[in-house]
Amino acid sequence: MQSAPGAYTIIGGRQYLYFVGTGYLGLHGHPEVLRAACEATEKYGMGSATSRRGFGNTPPTLDVEARAAEFFGKDDAMYFMTGYLGNSVLVQGLAGTFDLVAVDESSHYSVMDAAVLSQRPIVKFANRNPESLAAVLAEHCTDGKRPLVITDGVFPVRGIIAPVDGYYRALKPYAGSALMVDDAHALGAVGPTGRGSLEHAGLPWETVNTNVQPDGAPRLFVSGTLSKAFGAYGGIVPGSADFIDALKADSPYYRAASALPPANAAASAKAFELVRDHPEMLQRLRDNVKLLRDGLRGLGLDVDDSLVPIICLVLDTVERMKQVQAELMEQGILIAYNPKYSDLGPKGGIRIAVFATHTKEMIQRLIDGVAKVLAV
Ligand SMILES: Cc1ncc(COP(=O)(O)O)c(C=O)c1O
Repeated sequence: MQSAPGAYTIIGGRQYLYFVGTGYLGLHGHPEVLRAACEATEKYGMGSATSRRGFGNTPPTLDVEARAAEFFGKDDAMYFMTGYLGNSVLVQGLAGTFDLVAVDESSHYSVMDAAVLSQRPIVKFANRNPESLAAVLAEHCTDGKRPLVITDGVFPVRGIIAPVDGYYRALKPYAGSALMVDDAHALGAVGPTGRGSLEHAGLPWETVNTNVQPDGAPRLFVSGTLSKAFGAYGGIVPGSADFIDALKADSPYYRAASALPPANAAASAKAFELVRDHPEMLQRLRDNVKLLRDGLRGLGLDVDDSLVPIICLVLDTVERMKQVQAELMEQGILIAYNPKYSDLGPKGGIRIAVFATHTKEMIQRLIDGVAKVLAV
């Protein structure tokens, strides 16, 4: 890649109409985001060369946490190296509050890593299947064992939202239970105000990432990233003041890893500001998602009408999917055939991502391009 990712992106020296990756709100090349990163670098250097527990809390680092708290309607947030670590940050913070980890069998690699890190027994349930979760819990959560369920909120290649409300219901009979969602692809893009899959499902947002467990209901936790919809870089966990204070106090990532470069923090803080001040970006993303989903469905493809900006096409054969990708590339349009990923079956799948910055004409070009390739 030889440009910022955007509606048009230069790959291998050629500019493509680009429907790949995760820059859903189209902010990675936004001039204000770039300026914020440059100014922060000039002022604070490449990095603080110390941990956050040391003296690494530069103004942009504190700023991005304040902006995240504002966006998510929480008191505070913890900003850390990469969204990939979100599940691990939470699992470490929640140590001692659960006895068993139940994971969706198709969860992201980062979920599986965090489950191992928890040093608790791990059981798997069938992908996006609350009944399977209920059966697994009934079998393994005897003698008052407290389960922690971990899942992707939106699956990264299939683009399907997890039935988190079903998991919440399945967890209700178990005292001390908790549901933890890796919402890397949902924060900023899914849910009425962009707060992700828990908001989308109507679960009690006010209890998310807090120390409160109202009426014995399952506790709710979420982690995410600023590297996708939010157009910058770094992992994020927003939450109540006491929850975040405790998370930071216990986290080895806070204590013993270099703080994120101020450029990343400043860019992320600016991206939050832009998202807050320009709600039309999220609306435009939604309009584009609908346009593309409707268009592809109109070609007879199996595409549902969700608002997730990721569309996955699993065609008859691997060869056919590779051919579709190659022929679209010839037309100057880039979509990605993924042979392997945590949420894909043995054939892999074509992943198409749509951004707020795609125009109607660009989306129509993609639909026409797919139609042309499939007609052959
Ligand atoms: C579900 C999920 N979690 C976490 C990550 C990693 O996030 P980041 O790229 O911010 O490290 C990804 C990456 O695509 C992902 O799909």
